Amino acid sequence: TRVMQMNKMKSLSMLARSFSVSSQSNYKVSVLGASGGIGQPMSLLLKQTPGVKELALYDIAHTPGVAADLSHIDTAAKVTGHTGPEEIGECLKGCDVVVIPAGVPRKPGMTRDDLFTTNASIVAELSKACAKYCPKAFICIISNPVNSTVPICCEIFKKSGVSDVSKVFGVSTLDIVRSNTFVAEAKGLDVSTVNVPVVGGHAGITIIPLISQCQPPVSFEQAELEALTARIQDAGTEVVKAKAGAGSATLSMAYAGARFAASALDALSGKEGVVECAFVPTDKSECGYFSTPLVLGPNGIESNLGLNKLSPYEQTLVEACMPELKGSIKKGEDFARNYN
Ligand code: NAI
Repeated sequence: TRVMQMNKMKSLSMLARSFSVSSQSNYKVSVLGASGGIGQPMSLLLKQTPGVKELALYDIAHTPGVAADLSHIDTAAKVTGHTGPEEIGECLKGCDVVVIPAGVPRKPGMTRDDLFTTNASIVAELSKACAKYCPKAFICIISNPVNSTVPICCEIFKKSGVSDVSKVFGVSTLDIVRSNTFVAEAKGLDVSTVNVPVVGGHAGITIIPLISQCQPPVSFEQAELEALTARIQDAGTEVVKAKAGAGSATLSMAYAGARFAASALDALSGKEGVVECAFVPTDKSECGYFSTPLVLGPNGIESNLGLNKLSPYEQTLVEACMPELKGSIKKGEDFARNYN
């Protein structure tokens, strides 16, 4: 088991940190919700990501303008714009990676679950289109509440006859990015060398940074550790408050979404040791979905690295998040069951 643990840690330390993917421009990437606060800057980053042959942008509004603007950038990716349901097939056909930031963001005082009513049907509609036009693509879901939208996507896939959901991911990368930043700041470390795995889900107390597994190893007094954990869990709300009604995290999320998509491209191109945390279906957790570090390969999840050794404090956090996480997952599954 010691060797296994060493291997796990080795994989973790290889967590993709840059957007350096295969030098070949081979892949079609689609952004659904491309005109939004996240969609636009993320599409800008993806236009510069090596490996992208075509960047297909979809939204219900403003896509022609965003596509025209990005298409003037002198990088290899060809940009296409698609507007409205009648054009989504063209957008998704032949797609290798789909990133979905479509849906409304939070305003001050809202929880991610408050977005359910609007975003559940948006994600269901887009998942149905993905199941029809690109069932084998990596599907990277940003739209909140991620703890419910990922189960919605998986259930819609199954309903549409696509049983393999090993390429459906809830993008929790921003939680890792934030943890790396806050830990590096607290310890005066070079942030490019810091990796904190974050497990659980993507909302409040379900966001569980495993600071005991940080690379390089760091230690905090318990009170400091609790304050840092709470800041990571509330970091999205910190941005929502600072934006004072103008939305939630868009720029840092664009960075995180582009990083996850670049890792998906790395995995597709056969690169070894691509590890990202993401919220995915798993039989390793009693609630059926959980975020853990995953080794990604051409077929999606190659192996689930699981939780590894938790500190007693982290163990209590994992236990405490279960009721909320189970509730959010069930809410998503129930919605999908009744969706036509
Ligand atoms: P936004 O309102 O600026 O953009 C959303 C875009 O989705 C708009 O362009 C809108 O036209 C489009 N849209 C709406 N319905 C659509 C449909 N049926 N098909 C295609 N596009 C559609 O919102 P923003 O700030 O970009 O946030 C998007 C989502 O990302 C929100 O749900 C937000 O909560 C979530 N988010 C997730 C994070 C994460 O860590 N996973 C972090 C930050 C935000």
